[in-house]
Amino acid sequence: MNTDLQEFLNQLHAEGVDHDSSQVDRAHRYRNLNPETAHFIAMLVQLMHAQKVVEIGTSNGYSTIWLADAVTTTGGTITTVDIESQHGAADNVERAGLTEPVEFVHADAGEYLAGVEDDSVDVLFLDAERTQYAGWWPHPYRVLRAGGLMLIDNAHHPAPDELTAFVALIADEPGLDQLVLPLGSGLIMARKV
Ligand SMILES: C[S@@+](CC[C@H](N)C(=O)[O-])C[C@H]1O[C@@H](n2cnc3c(N)ncnc32)[C@H](O)[C@@H]1O
Repeated sequence: MNTDLQEFLNQLHAEGVDHDSSQVDRAHRYRNLNPETAHFIAMLVQLMHAQKVVEIGTSNGYSTIWLADAVTTTGGTITTVDIESQHGAADNVERAGLTEPVEFVHADAGEYLAGVEDDSVDVLFLDAERTQYAGWWPHPYRVLRAGGLMLIDNAHHPAPDELTAFVALIADEPGLDQLVLPLGSGLIMARKV
């Protein structure tokens, strides 16, 4: 990553932390990903040479920019989905100079995932309302290609119980090999075998 982009991401993250500290209503917070987690996910995208990345939960585009930068090295694309108007995400992605590989979808993720082709996604990153994920099953699994990766943030923090139902679905699916990394807020990695 070039230093200008790294500086822009650092600035966006700092602004997000500052913004969130003054927002009482959780729905209005940006809730950006931990930088180390974002860096790690971007590295995985590059290592997998991922062509189709899907992100659920755009917010202001912080993690989208990490992923968009990663897919510029693989020749892939990222589709980022958010149910809300996206807190200036498109402007931030444009400022980062990464409009080309990014498709913004304004939709409910459950409805969006239900329409995605079987076995078509290399990396699916879930970073939205955790209590909803179980209701989206089996689509998060169905859309992954063999060898594809599902990544889920917030396994450990702030409310691990919100993921209990989803974690049970993953654990019961013999077609997934999964582990939890103590990175940032806790990152679940589940690979379709
Ligand atoms: C934690 S924030 C995403 C942060 C972002 N990934 C980042 O690191 O910059 C969660 C986002 O999920 C969105 N969201 C919540 N429920 C959703 C749903 N059912 N479908 C799509 N997006 C949803 C919210 O509007 C919010 O912008």
